[in-house]
Amino acid sequence: MKNTYITRVLVCRPSHYQVNYSINPWMVPGSVNVKRAMDQWKTLIDIYQRLGVAVEIIDQEPQLPDMVFTADQGIIKNNRVLLSNFRYPERQGERSPYKKWFLEHNFITLSAPDDCFFEGHGEAIFWRDKLLLGVGFRANKEAASAISKKLGIEVIPLQLVDPKFYHLDTCFFALNSETAFFYPQAFSESSQKMLQKVVPQLFAFTNNEVTGFAANSIVTDHHVLINTGCPSFTRRIRQLGYEAQELKMSEFVKSGGSIHCLTQVLSQIIY
Ligand code: ARG
Repeated sequence: MKNTYITRVLVCRPSHYQVNYSINPWMVPGSVNVKRAMDQWKTLIDIYQRLGVAVEIIDQEPQLPDMVFTADQGIIKNNRVLLSNFRYPERQGERSPYKKWFLEHNFITLSAPDDCFFEGHGEAIFWRDKLLLGVGFRANKEAASAISKKLGIEVIPLQLVDPKFYHLDTCFFALNSETAFFYPQAFSESSQKMLQKVVPQLFAFTNNEVTGFAANSIVTDHHVLINTGCPSFTRRIRQLGYEAQELKMSEFVKSGGSIHCLTQVLSQIIY
């Protein structure tokens, strides 16, 4: 069994974070407590630093409230990043500051054709030597073959069917090379079967867990960072031999995101 040790991440300081439009069912404009959001984000950064993860920080542009979700910005394989083509105009402006950041930090940036929509690791999750891609709400089928060609990796598209779980990282969580969790009802029947085929030990999230953003957890080494409000998931993670740490991410859940969305993994060791 192989685990992942995250060594370097990119996060965005939420200086201009808010919810002022609605492009998913979680978003209620005007609902965010800005000060609390900053405190929750700082706690996440402290934990990364304590766990020995190098943290790179990008500043937020005032007119781009969802820029805080760094995971969505691109798909990274080694030093190459395939920049996202955001579905909604509200988020399309995020591409340019991130492209600049990646170039300044020695990444090679790649682009997919304009008719391919996908939003980085919000919906592209590595599974062993393959990439799982949630399609239907933000990503389209065309993206699967474009990503595969550009990054030279087999892409398995998974059909998402519930608008509340619009990104793969809201309904699927990979713990290690053998074990993952998913919320069956968020996937079409054939995609449920596909996951059962490729994941040896596949557990189902309960409704409470998935709506508490348990799928948006992050695992590094033997530590799992989990949004508060999913106590049964925390228990299950501990039973599997991992150290679970709960963090309150309530202000980001109001935008439809949590720990995983706020974290772009720049490098990791699989051991
Ligand atoms: N408000 C953002 C959106 O709807 C939230 C994105 C969260 N990202 C994620 N990977 N789930 O696009």
